[in-house]
Amino acid sequence: MEVIITSNYEEICEKATRIIHQAWKRKNNLVLGLATGKTPLGVYKKIVELYENGEMDFSQVVAFTLDEYLGLEENHPQSFAYYMEKNFYQHTNIKEENIFRLEGKPENIKTHCQEYEEKIKNLGGIDIQILGIGRNGHIGFNEPSSSLASRTRVKTLTRETIGDNARFFKNREDVPRFCLTMGIGTVMDAKMIILLASGKNKSEAVFKSIEGPVTAMVPASVLQLHPQVKIIIDEEASSLLTRKEYYKWVYQNKEKVKDFLE
Ligand code: GLP
Repeated sequence: MEVIITSNYEEICEKATRIIHQAWKRKNNLVLGLATGKTPLGVYKKIVELYENGEMDFSQVVAFTLDEYLGLEENHPQSFAYYMEKNFYQHTNIKEENIFRLEGKPENIKTHCQEYEEKIKNLGGIDIQILGIGRNGHIGFNEPSSSLASRTRVKTLTRETIGDNARFFKNREDVPRFCLTMGIGTVMDAKMIILLASGKNKSEAVFKSIEGPVTAMVPASVLQLHPQVKIIIDEEASSLLTRKEYYKWVYQNKEKVKDFLE
């Protein structure tokens, strides 16, 4: 687990974008797993800028959305399909056939989830999974107590998450109660995971995920078991970490300790 502490949100986005860009240079047909929410917005903006400047091309890139509200149409302004389209896909040359979405209204939920898993597998797995984190430590929509081995499936949202996400809807009552999400096991199969967190309201979840025990009550804590995770956070989100100076030292001296990190 590599913990990268930056001075602000802008720097989080710069660093995450750089990692994705470098990975794309090595593998043009990069398979991305993409989270929604406020946090990754700056990364998507910068990736689009790279495309506009001719520094990145998406003709071979494949993208999988991490989760979706159940019951929302694809063109609903709060659906994650709409979010990805508006904030990323429509501004690049990514091909429609390379975009995979969890549907808000699938004909058969179970089959749809199984097929999603198969598509990921058939395309060689996710190279880089981008994650945000909920205040309760959720990743995707894997709420506390989700099985650490879970696969893509339907989940019930906690009252806390419904409250947090109500800011995007007109009324709290409009927030869907159910969702589809890649499972924790699905996320853990990604070759590299980048988790982004910004602001004081994420500091407790960040602390528990990095320095707490691995527990289903804090889904992001399972990332401690993944061999290739980068946690990119700002000073505020890192404020409760007890080994902050150490993480900074390791990062700054990465070249010297590179052999131990890879
Ligand atoms: C939602 C999404 C998560 C996201 C989280 C945090 O619940 N399903 O994928 O990480 O919100 O969102 P934000 O970045 O807006 O704080």
